[in-house]
Parts: sequence; structure tokens; C-alpha cells
Amino acid sequence: MHLQWYPGHMTKALRQMREDIRIVDMIIELVDARVPISSRNPDLDELGRDKARLILLNKADLADEVVSRYFIDTFSRKGHFVLEVNAKTRHGLGAIAKIVEQTCAEKRERDERRGINKRPIKAMVVGIPNVGKSTFINSYAGRAAAKTGNKPGITKGRQWIRLGKDLELLDTPGLLWPKFTDQAVGQKLAMIGTINENILDVGELSLMIIKFLGKFYPDSLANRYSIEPQRPIDGELESPSVILAKICESRHCYLKGGELHLTRAAAMIADDFRNGRLGRFSLDRPGE
Ligand code: G4P
Repeated sequence: MHLQWYPGHMTKALRQMREDIRIVDMIIELVDARVPISSRNPDLDELGRDKARLILLNKADLADEVVSRYFIDTFSRKGHFVLEVNAKTRHGLGAIAKIVEQTCAEKRERDERRGINKRPIKAMVVGIPNVGKSTFINSYAGRAAAKTGNKPGITKGRQWIRLGKDLELLDTPGLLWPKFTDQAVGQKLAMIGTINENILDVGELSLMIIKFLGKFYPDSLANRYSIEPQRPIDGELESPSVILAKICESRHCYLKGGELHLTRAAAMIADDFRNGRLGRFSLDRPGE
């Protein structure tokens, strides 16, 4: 499976992002906790290097907690604030306000010294598609949010969302895309469903998932589909296509003529994997 996915209009989008970053106090970057490195656009580090950053590991409910802890540590050591959150249930969102205050304490003091009234902190919310940005904004802003619409100097499509007196969020729709030259990154994004299914072969995708699980979470398929656990024989794991066929049988996925309906089983595996029904997994691994 060869994946190449980087929209041509990215240069323009990055220029826009550079302008947006200039007017905010901090950046709230959402990443997918299952792929906290692969779901970032590395350009942001360069563009936002002078701004405070809060990284939200969203969908933490779907990720391997031990691995998440490792990445929280990694990002913290780079000087970023980091939180694990679940935008859907709002778990973890309560800690954001304090961090926002902390990141902007200096600005507040400076304003006070100059006799400027307390101004709301301006935070830009960024994240690649499907990372949960809309869910986050809706959950975090909730009913308290007043969409303030366009402001002078802000391009159409940018949306300021006011949260009480102290915070304004700048939503930047669809601006940040994943960027990858590395096939492994593309494959991981495909496995979690960031990359659209219709450019992918679901059969191949399920084989990648089976291979990954066999390597890192060997009991997960056995537990869900009542098949024998994947154990290496002479150091080799059973071929993913054999396992796919076993799952297909176990789930009675047959075509009318009695042949195995492998595509149906493959789609089921991909869906179960993405929605956490096979367990919690992290595809970016420490030390990679
Ligand atoms: P985007 O704006 O970044 O493109 O993403 P969006 O909020 O639309 O979220 C993409 C999908 O991820 C949605 O699922 C959403 O419910 C889900 N999601 C967001 N945050 C979390 C989280 O913390 N944990 C989990 N488990 N899921 C999360 P969907 O299938 O598209 O919609 P729905 O089934 O929720 O209706």
C-alpha cells in the first residue's frame, strides 16, 4: 500500500497559519493519543516556536496508557504543557483553564504593570482532520461559548469562540494536515481512520492491523473473536491472512456460495480496531 497524501494548497495554508499564530498568545494542539507523533504536522513546531503550547492527547480512552505516559513525558521535556483528554466525555478538560492561566501569567503581569485591563487570552486550536477538534471545541466551550464571528484581520472561515471573560479560542478549520513522507506514518493514520477509506483497500488495512496486534498486543484478536491466541512458532507469527481467514470463519462471514467473505471480516476488524472494541492501542511506540 503506497500512501501519499499532502494537499497542494498546503503552502497557502501554512502562510495563513503563520499569520494566525502571530496574533495569539498560545497554541492548543490536539493530537491523537494513539499516534501522538504521527498525527502532528511538524511544520507547527517551526511556525509556533515562540508561542506557549498545550498539547492535548485526545482520544486517550483508545490509547495504551503506558505508552501515553511516555509521550507525555517526551513532550513535557520539550517544554510543552501536556494533558491526556477525552473530548467526547470531557475527561481531562477541567485542567485546561489552569494551564492557560499559567502559560499566560507573564503577559498578565505585563498588562497589569502597564495598567491594561485584564484581556482574554487568545488561544489557537489546531489539529489534523478527525483528531476530534470539533468535539473538543463543542465540549470545552459548551453553552458558555459565543461564536463571535469574523474580526478584522481574520480571514473568512476563521472562527473566534469566546469563553467567559478570560479566553478566546481561534478555530482554524482544516488548516493543519498530516504530513508524511514516511510510509509507516501514512499506514498508522490509515489504521486509525484519519485517511479516507475509499483510497484504501480494506483487506490490506486489516492485514496491517492484524500484524500490528500480533506484534504488540497478541491476545486482543483472540479475546474478541474466539480464535487461538497469536503465538510465534519458531520465532514467526502466523501469517496475517491466515488469521483473517480464521476470524472470518469464527464470525461466520460467508458469501452465498459458502466461500469466506474476507472483505466483510476485514471491514469488521478495521472498525473494531478504530473504535476501541479490540482494546486500547498505541501505534507510535517509544524509541521509534
Ligand atoms: P475533527 O473536527 O478533528 O475532524 O474531528 P471530530 O470532532 O469530528 O471527531 C472525529 C471523531 O472522533 C468523531 O467520531 C468523534 O466523536 C470522535 N472523538 C473525538 N474525541 C474523541 C475522544 O476523546 N475519544 C473517542 N473515543 N472518540 C473521540 P465519529 O465516529 O465521526 O462520530 P460519532 O460516532 O461520535 O458520532
